[in-house]
Amino acid sequence: MVDVLLGLQWGDEGKGKIVDYFAPNYDIIARFQGGPNAGHTLYIKGEKVVLHQIPSGIFHENKVNLIGNGVVLDAVTLKKEFDKVSAFGIDGRKNLYVAERTHLILPSHRALDKASEISKGNEKIGSTLKGIGPAYMDKTGRNGLRVGDLLDKNFTTQYIKLRMKHQRLLDSFGFNDDISEWEEEFFEAIEFMRTLKIVNGEYFINDKIREGKKVLAEGAQGSMLDVDFGTFPFVTSSSTISAGVCTGLGIAPQKIKDVYGVTKAYCTRVGSGPFPTELHEETGERLRKIGNEFGATTGRPRRCGWIDLVALNFACMINGVTKIVMTKSDVLDAFEDLSVCTSYGIDGRQDKSVPYQMSKTPITPHYEQFPGWMTDITKMRDLSSLPEAMKQYIHFINEYLGVHVSHISNGPEREQIIKC
Ligand code: GDP
Ligand code: IMO
Ligand code: MG
Repeated sequence: MVDVLLGLQWGDEGKGKIVDYFAPNYDIIARFQGGPNAGHTLYIKGEKVVLHQIPSGIFHENKVNLIGNGVVLDAVTLKKEFDKVSAFGIDGRKNLYVAERTHLILPSHRALDKASEISKGNEKIGSTLKGIGPAYMDKTGRNGLRVGDLLDKNFTTQYIKLRMKHQRLLDSFGFNDDISEWEEEFFEAIEFMRTLKIVNGEYFINDKIREGKKVLAEGAQGSMLDVDFGTFPFVTSSSTISAGVCTGLGIAPQKIKDVYGVTKAYCTRVGSGPFPTELHEETGERLRKIGNEFGATTGRPRRCGWIDLVALNFACMINGVTKIVMTKSDVLDAFEDLSVCTSYGIDGRQDKSVPYQMSKTPITPHYEQFPGWMTDITKMRDLSSLPEAMKQYIHFINEYLGVHVSHISNGPEREQIIKC
């Protein structure tokens, strides 16, 4: 049996915290897409840890953590992350498995990401510059190197061949940064990766499922950044939605049971691209400040705005969301008035659907107003103690989406969560 947990907005919904909280109920935690563009924040013994490549179940002893074939893997980031978790007494080598079909991010992918962004000028995607796009391009373009190739004696030759191809592309961009230092680290990290548990991911996970083990598939980014259904071209390069779990791990759709969709009680986005409910004035600034909305991977300030039910409804539809987890609800504690976007004004009419190309469609968000609860909820642990105004806010979202909020997160710590 497989449950999925993924982001319903533009990423950073708090997936890492929720996976860490859910992990005790599962045997395997598996990442199925994305790469080091992800930054999943956990609080372990009061200390903040940001994970980019390792699944967020790693702090639970005796749980298997799998990096699935749908991920693009940066060996250097992975190696650094091993050191990070080992400071907490966790031996990554014991519980971490890597699928051999997982594609590798090469130093030249990072260079290409940078060169491509520079060439776009004002139209840049706002990529994390981790090499994600170029690595996925080499996968679909049938050029890339995979984790299984590390074990091949011709790995370096294959690397040089691809590196030369990349150089020709870099030359065409007129990009000539020296990446030899990155290459040095890369080969050290490749040596380290050879000591890890590299497995055939699809047999590995299906055997476990057959034995009755429970899998939690951990999404990265968010549904609105999905390469097909996101706000193209301002998206990432992977399938961030539940369908990506099948191709990203090698499991059949009927194995999937619950799809947990994570959303903030408001909305954020980092990088370029459309964001209909974005607040440019003081309220947006307040959300950023109280919510500490700065990127976990790049440190960039996140753009902030009200919750967008049109986009959430769309995300619930394409993912088949069965349960919603609402995070960062405590951030709204001190807001007197709250707004909820219930339709888009497009060409003078009201629409409840997401347009084909949001980036080229002027949208005026229509809001319903709600009174804020003006109460500190961070210490509350059960539904009955929540303020009435908050219950109404959540009830409205439940009704609009037709999917119930099963958990409310009211602080960054593992214990700060309320079951509904
Ligand atoms: P992810 O990428 O979806 O895992 O999310 P990030 O880790 O990038 O961003 C979420 C941020 O919100 C992190 O700093 C978390 O520690 C924090 N966070 C998660 N849940 C809550 C919550 O319920 N309340 C508050 N105040 N912070 C939260
Ligand atoms: P988590 O898993 C928020 C955004 C980038 C950029 C676009 C493309 O922490 O939620 P890429 O590096 O993938 O080529 O960037 O996607 N982006 C994210 N935004 N959270 C993330 O991951 C993101 N990963 C990528 O800012 O706009
Ligand atoms: Mg993040």
